Amino acid sequence: MVDIHSHIFWGVDDGADTRETTLAMLRMASESGTTDIVGTPHANAESVPDAEEIDRQMEDLNRALDGKPRIHRGCELHVSFDAIQDALANPRKYTVNGKNFLLLEFAGQLPPHAEDLLARLADAGMDPIIAHAERNPTLAQKVDQLEKWCERGVLVQITAKSLEGGFGAKAADAAWRMLSRGLVHFVASDAHDLEHRPPRLDLARELVQRKMDEDVADLVFTDNPRIVVEGGNAALVRPPAAQPQPWWHSFRMGR
Ligand SMILES: [Fe+2]
Repeated sequence: MVDIHSHIFWGVDDGADTRETTLAMLRMASESGTTDIVGTPHANAESVPDAEEIDRQMEDLNRALDGKPRIHRGCELHVSFDAIQDALANPRKYTVNGKNFLLLEFAGQLPPHAEDLLARLADAGMDPIIAHAERNPTLAQKVDQLEKWCERGVLVQITAKSLEGGFGAKAADAAWRMLSRGLVHFVASDAHDLEHRPPRLDLARELVQRKMDEDVADLVFTDNPRIVVEGGNAALVRPPAAQPQPWWHSFRMGR
């Protein structure tokens, strides 16, 4: 599996606090089936994590863990007018592995010009990914709006732990609704630590495989996220809209 959203770099945001925590998080990720993980520290136009510090950490971690998992760099860009202007001027400062995909965070209500900002990024050759869409109060309620955006090429990431119910009933409901309407391209951990927000995808993958099917699970946990770390214009596929199986289906099928 490939995890495109995590706060694994230590001391740069509210994610891992020490090198030891980072190493333990990465071991946990690898042991639970993650082969690749993108470190996405919080960023905005005024404050971007120091690129040299991230280089140093990546070199150190790759040496310590021998590429298990492979570590990639990105950021989680807090959407504001200034941030988008800076991303348009310096795309490689923000995109995953300096390629074309950009992870965006809409915190709270959507700005009125959200659609315009997304279109400008796309026109400039960047592929915007909405981070944890199910935890945005507006998008969680207006799934039709998200569908319109998807049809225009906006990509959607939801959080593994939301599918497990770890962010409450509303987030779980929104996450499963988005997934079953075929609006989700990626499931990622958004890991911050070892305990409350761990870097695990395996539990959510099992749920998706059981409630939807294996092809959907492969698509949102492995195939689509791999395109993000590799970059380029390979087609990202939205899973087909489908109703999740009711809980008793899994029981009766003995799975
Ligand atoms: Fe995040």
